[in-house]
Amino acid sequence: MDKLLIEGGTQLRGEIAISGAKNAALPLLCAALLTREPLTLTNVPDLHDIDTMLRLLTQMGVKVSREKVGAGGTASASSAVTLDASGLDNPLAPYELVKTMRASVLVLGPLAARCGEARVSLPGGCAIGARPVDQHIRGLQAMGAEITVEQGYVHARTTAAGGKLKGARLFTDMVTVTGTENLMMAACLADGESVIENAAREPEVVDLANCLIAMGARISGAGTDVIRIQGVDRLSGTTHRIMPDRIETGTYLCAAAATGGAVRLTNTSSSYLDVVIDKLMDTGCEIGLERSAIHLQAPARLKAVSIRTAPYPAFPTDMQAQFMAINTVADGTAIMRETIFENRFMHAVELIRLGADIKIDGNTAFVTGVEKLDGATVMATDLRASASLVIAGLAAQGETIVDRIYHLDRGYEQMETKLAALGARVRRVK
Ligand code: UD1
Repeated sequence: MDKLLIEGGTQLRGEIAISGAKNAALPLLCAALLTREPLTLTNVPDLHDIDTMLRLLTQMGVKVSREKVGAGGTASASSAVTLDASGLDNPLAPYELVKTMRASVLVLGPLAARCGEARVSLPGGCAIGARPVDQHIRGLQAMGAEITVEQGYVHARTTAAGGKLKGARLFTDMVTVTGTENLMMAACLADGESVIENAAREPEVVDLANCLIAMGARISGAGTDVIRIQGVDRLSGTTHRIMPDRIETGTYLCAAAATGGAVRLTNTSSSYLDVVIDKLMDTGCEIGLERSAIHLQAPARLKAVSIRTAPYPAFPTDMQAQFMAINTVADGTAIMRETIFENRFMHAVELIRLGADIKIDGNTAFVTGVEKLDGATVMATDLRASASLVIAGLAAQGETIVDRIYHLDRGYEQMETKLAALGARVRRVK
C-alpha cells in the first residue's frame, strides 16, 4: 500500500493548475447513459474514482474513449472522454464496483429512465457515516418505478406502457447532492413535468444541469432549491467542459495557509468558494481574485476560525477536515460543528498524534492551536481526512508518513506532483 512521506516545515510557494471537479465529473459521466449519441466531456480529472466509474459504464455496454491532454505538474493531467451509450445492454452496477465508490449509485436514475430497468448494488456504509440512498429510491418510486431490494441490490423497473417514468413532485427529507442529481437525470426522460423540492444547490448540480440542457433537456431552477424538469422523448450528445474542482482549490489554499506560504492557483474560480475564502481571510490570509485564478498570501501566524458545515452555499463538509488542520496551528480556539455526516472527525485522532489539541463532543470539535506540530506516522481514513493529514504533515516539524493514501488517489489528481511544484518535500513510497 502506498504511503506519502512528507518532510514538513517548508512554506508552499508557486503556482499550480486546478483539475476538473470530481464531484461534477461523476454525475456527468452517468449522464451519457441518457442518450444514444456520443457525449464528450473535457477537463475530466485523472482520478481512481473516474477510472471506477468508466469501468462501471464499460461493463454496461458503453463505449469509452479517453484522450489524456495534460502533462502534470503545473499543468493539469486532465482528459477528454467520449462516451457512446448506443450499445447499452446491461443495466447492472455490481457490488464489486459500487463498494469502492458510493457515487456509483448515480447510474440508478439514468438507467431507470433510459432502459426502464436497473439493478444497482446498495452502496452500504462508509467510513464517514451510514449514508443511505432511501431518498433516491423514494423519488424514483414517486416517478412510477417499482423498486425491490433483494440480496443487496436495488432493482428498479418501470411498469407504465412504453417503459417510461412519469413526472412527479419530488420532495427529499434532507438536502442530498447525488439524490438531486439522480432524480434530475431520471426526470429528463420522464413523461410530463417533475419538480424537485428541497433540491441541493451545489455548483456541481448546476454544472450537470447545464450539460443536460445542452443535450436537449428542459430544466429550470438548478442552483435554487426548486428544480423543474419537463420530460422530453430523447436527449442528444454534446461537448461539455467540467467545472474546476472547488474542493481541490480550497485544499491547496489551506495547505499554503498552514505553511505560511504564498500560492497562485490557476484554472479555477472563486465564484463557488465564497465562504471558504471568507474563512481564510478571517485566519489572516490575504486573498487576490482573478477571473480564473486565486492568489493567497499567508500571515506569519494564523488566527483560529470557527465553522459549521451545511449544504451549499454554507461551509462545505468536504472542507471541514482541511480547516481542522489549519486550526491546529492557529492562535486561539476554534469551534467546528459538522452537521452533514455523523462520523466525520476521524482525522482528529490522527491530528492529535501529531501534537494537535482537539476535544470532540458529539458533532462538535474544539480545536486549540499549538505552537507547532511534530511529524509522526498517521493513517488516512477517508478522502478529505487524508488531505487534512497531508496539510498537517506539511506544517509539522520533521517527517510525517501518511499511510493508506489510496483515499487521496480517489479524489486528488497527482497530489504529490502538485505539492512538489509548490516546493513541498514530499514523495510517494510503495
Ligand atoms: C455528495 C458529495 C460528497 C459530499 C456530500 C455532502 C458527490 C459524488 N459526493 O455526497 O463529496 O461530502 O455530497 O456535500 O457529489 N442522505 C440520506 N438518504 C439519502 C441521501 C442522503 O439519509 O438517500 C443523508 C446522508 O447520509 C448525509 C446527507 O443526507 O447525511 C447528505 O448526503 P448527500 O448530499 O446525499 O451526500 P452525497 O450525495 O453522497
